[in-house]
Amino acid sequence: TDLTALNTLGLPARAQYFCALTDLAQLDELRADPAIAALPWHVLGSGSNLVLPDQVTGLVIQVALRGRTLMGEDEHAWYVSAGAGENWHDFVQWTLAQGWAGLENLSLIPGTVGAAPIQNIGAYGVEVKDLLYGVHATELKNGERRIFSQCECRFGYRDSIFKQEEAGRWLISEVIFRLPKQAVLHTAYGDLVNEMQRVAAEPSAQAVAQAVIQVRQRKLPDPAVIGNAGSFFKNPVVDAATHGQLKAKWPELVSYPFGEGAFKLAAGWLIDKAGWKGKTLGPAGMYEKQALVLVNHGGAQCADVQRLCQAVQDSVRGQFGVQLEPEPVFW
Ligand code: EPU
Repeated sequence: TDLTALNTLGLPARAQYFCALTDLAQLDELRADPAIAALPWHVLGSGSNLVLPDQVTGLVIQVALRGRTLMGEDEHAWYVSAGAGENWHDFVQWTLAQGWAGLENLSLIPGTVGAAPIQNIGAYGVEVKDLLYGVHATELKNGERRIFSQCECRFGYRDSIFKQEEAGRWLISEVIFRLPKQAVLHTAYGDLVNEMQRVAAEPSAQAVAQAVIQVRQRKLPDPAVIGNAGSFFKNPVVDAATHGQLKAKWPELVSYPFGEGAFKLAAGWLIDKAGWKGKTLGPAGMYEKQALVLVNHGGAQCADVQRLCQAVQDSVRGQFGVQLEPEPVFW
C-alpha cells in the first residue's frame, strides 16, 4: 500500500501490509494469523507527526475508530469521549458548538484524537494533558485492554509514556476528556493577545478558537498545500547557567522559564538565527514564515528530510552549543 497520501510530509513510502481499523475486533483477527502476528506492527493516525522510511516493514494499522459522545457530567465538568480516529480539529469545534469550553487553544492542530495524547499536543499555553481524563488502549500483540488515567500517561512537554517506556506497544482506541464547566480562557500567549485585540472580540471560547485559527493560518503551512509535520524540533530546555551564557552573548535570545532552574529556548529563533529560515537543501527546506517547520517543496524522500534535519542540528550545535531533538516520530 502506498502511504504517500497518508503522511502530511508527503514522503513516498510503501507499507508491506496495511489495514484500516474500524472495529477493535479486527485486531483479534490480525493476531490470529501467525504470519501477520510475527511482523512488526505500526499504528498510524493521520500521519501528521511522522517521518516515514521509503519501505515500512510489517503491518501498518490506520486507526479509523469513530464516535463522539457526552459520557456524563458532575457539578464541575463534562466528560466527553471520542474515537481515536476522529479528526482532532473537527472534534474540538464540535465540543465548542455544544457549549463545552477547554480545547479552544488547540484548534487547527492537524491529526487525530488518538494521536493527541502520544506527544501531548499543545499550543498557546494549553496542552491536551490539561483536559484529558483517560485513554483507552489495547496492547497490540496480546490484546490486553487497559485504561490509562491522566496520571499514568506521564505527560511532559511533547511527551508521554506512549513515546517512552510503552512506545509502540499500545493502540489508543478512545480518549476521554474532562471539560470544566467553569472554563478559564488562556489568552496570555503573545501572538494570541495581539490577535484577540485585533478582532476586539468579547472573550469567549469560540473567540479564542477563531483567534488561534487566524494565527495558525498566518504562520503555519497547510499540509494540504505544502508538506510538513508542524514544528520539526522541540524547543530545547537548558539549565540556568547555559541560559545565562547564551543570553549574555545574544541578548535578543527568545526563552521562557521552564520549571526550576531551567529555561526553554525558542528553537525557531535559534534556527532562524543560524540562517536556515526559508532555506532549502535539495527538495526540503525550513519554512519561510516559521523556521521551526520543515517543509517538503515537492519530491522529498526520507533521506532528504534526514539530511536537512542533520544539517540544521549541526548548525545550531555549532553556533549555540545546543542540541535540537526532532519532534515527529521516525519509523
Ligand atoms: N521565532 C523566530 N523565528 C522563527 C520562528 C520563531 O525568531 O522563524 C521566534 C518567535 O518570534 C517567537 C518564538 O520564536 O518569539 C516562538 O515562536 P512561536 O510563538 O511561533 O512558537 P514556537 O515556539 O515556534 C511552539 C510549538 C507550536 C505551537 C506554538 C504556539 C513546539 C515545538 N512548538 O512553537 O507547536 O503551535 O508554540 O504555542 O513546542 C507543533 O508542535 O507542531 C507546533 C506547531
